[in-house]
Amino acid sequence: MKKYVHGYSRREAVRLMDQAKTLEEIFHYDSVWTEGSLILEAGCGVGAQTKTIAPKNPHSDFISIDISPDSLLEAGNTINSLEIKNVSFQQADIFNLPFEDNYFDHLFLCFVLEHLPNPMEALAKLRRVLKPGGTIMLIEGDHGSTYFHPDSTEAMEGVQCLVDLQKQNGGDANIGRRLYPILNESGFNNINVSPRMVYVDDSKPVLVEGFTKNTFAAMIEGIATEAVNKKLINPERMKKGVDDLYQCAEPGGVFCYTFFKGFGTK
Ligand SMILES: C[S@@+](CC[C@H](N)C(=O)[O-])C[C@H]1O[C@@H](n2cnc3c(N)ncnc32)[C@H](O)[C@@H]1O
Repeated sequence: MKKYVHGYSRREAVRLMDQAKTLEEIFHYDSVWTEGSLILEAGCGVGAQTKTIAPKNPHSDFISIDISPDSLLEAGNTINSLEIKNVSFQQADIFNLPFEDNYFDHLFLCFVLEHLPNPMEALAKLRRVLKPGGTIMLIEGDHGSTYFHPDSTEAMEGVQCLVDLQKQNGGDANIGRRLYPILNESGFNNINVSPRMVYVDDSKPVLVEGFTKNTFAAMIEGIATEAVNKKLINPERMKKGVDDLYQCAEPGGVFCYTFFKGFGTK
């Protein structure tokens, strides 16, 4: 990863937590593994998903890795404060995994492949440490699935700025639509990809706050300065784009986005 587009700021950590909390049911109603499994969570970040999937699988064990020591420290504090006992954290690089072949029963990744220049290589490295018959579970977004009311050309340009910045860093913010082919080309079998659509209107105040405002609009706001500095957009259009996204969180506003969840077997 050349540079992680969202950075490791406090604000970003809070955004990841908000996102995970709001989308818990949509993402994780089926994040359940056979009891007694050993699961590798790769790219756990600040533990935003860990704190949901670990208690949901109390009779399995998780090794959650990340390349960022600061994120791991925060993840560890969160998991300790919640008294979750079935997770151990380890600093490790997906591209240089310190585990034997066929070590894990299952793999889990969320919002990691989208930041990597070589997702296929990452999957090959991860596949090595997965037992034959073990599964992979992946969750990714796809910014091309964004639409909203009131519509706004500037807001769409703001979203495109994030897609462009992520591409400059070697990632793909529209990777969700590629999960099936990527898993297929990586040699996984029994692949199943399901869209996880988030639809928000003002009858769903928790999603308005947690997703439209604190996840999506905050994410575009978070890259606004960099996008302007890199001359991807002029400051006025970027400001209007961000304001218009926040407008979708006001009464009468609607916001739609589709995540993708993929499963495969080794
Ligand atoms: C967007 S965050 C997602 C965190 C968490 N999975 C979640 O859903 O909130 C991506 C994470 O992948 C980690 N990461 C990126 N490249 C990595 C690598 N080569 N090895 C391990 N972790 C990596 C980053 O440090 C970051 O914490």
